[in-house]
Amino acid sequence: MLVFTQIGPLKAYLSNQKPQQSIGFVPTMGALHAGHLSLVQQSKASNDLTVASIFVNPTQFNNPNDLAHYPRTLSLDMILLEQVGCDVLFCPHADEVYESNEAIEQYNWGAITHSLEGAYRPGHFDGVITIVRKLFSWVRPTRAYFGKKDYQQCAVIKELVNRFHLPIMLEFGETLREVDGLAMSSRNTRLSVEERQLAVRVSKALFEAKANHQQLASEAHQSMATFFEGEPLFRLEYIAIVDQANLTPLAPNKPTTGSVALIAVWCGNVRLIDSMILQ
Ligand code: PAF
Repeated sequence: MLVFTQIGPLKAYLSNQKPQQSIGFVPTMGALHAGHLSLVQQSKASNDLTVASIFVNPTQFNNPNDLAHYPRTLSLDMILLEQVGCDVLFCPHADEVYESNEAIEQYNWGAITHSLEGAYRPGHFDGVITIVRKLFSWVRPTRAYFGKKDYQQCAVIKELVNRFHLPIMLEFGETLREVDGLAMSSRNTRLSVEERQLAVRVSKALFEAKANHQQLASEAHQSMATFFEGEPLFRLEYIAIVDQANLTPLAPNKPTTGSVALIAVWCGNVRLIDSMILQ
């Protein structure tokens, strides 16, 4: 695997590839798990060259404590990427990615950027869009791969590609889960033993909503909420049942079939998100 830490050499290497060679791109913030690696494998199956990036993007963290504690495991990540046959790793330094005092552009694409994660983490998607635009402009991928666990992020990236007419095919990988159902996430490593046992309730709530997808949105909401009640380690931010495409909330009296349920909850000091299509 070739490793680039600077933008210029990465661009030079990629522009020297044959024009007909397809490039698959897997942007990540590292602390890789099987979900990331499966995206790399998907990319390898469909592209001539697979590029992964690891960059803990400071502008998408609205909470400095979350940024400070974000797991960083570069040496292990490199071994894992080698094992799945990733061709190129790009892990730039923040001072080359961002100019000092660079103003971060703000994007308001309605519910897609401003509901749910956008509402609870103000500026988060401005940071995500900014870094993904930069990475896309340097890597110029044929296909780019994102995990469906960050459902709203997938919707934001789709909107980005459409609005800016980017010639990039988007592929969204299924959420990989631990044996008990907890969605794989880089943040899971920060859970204590007790928190890890409780964290499974996030996926349990979603699986129950999925099993009862004919129920009304109000009923689904209420039954999901019971999974978090009376447990002081949980601090629920949202349970939402929304339209799959535009993320607007489903009316309480509508059956949930075909919608998507999303949950964000603090479990101790770790913020967990998960989502599931209800059908
Ligand atoms: O999903 C992530 O890991 C990040 O949000 C991304 C897409 C790599 C941008 O920093």
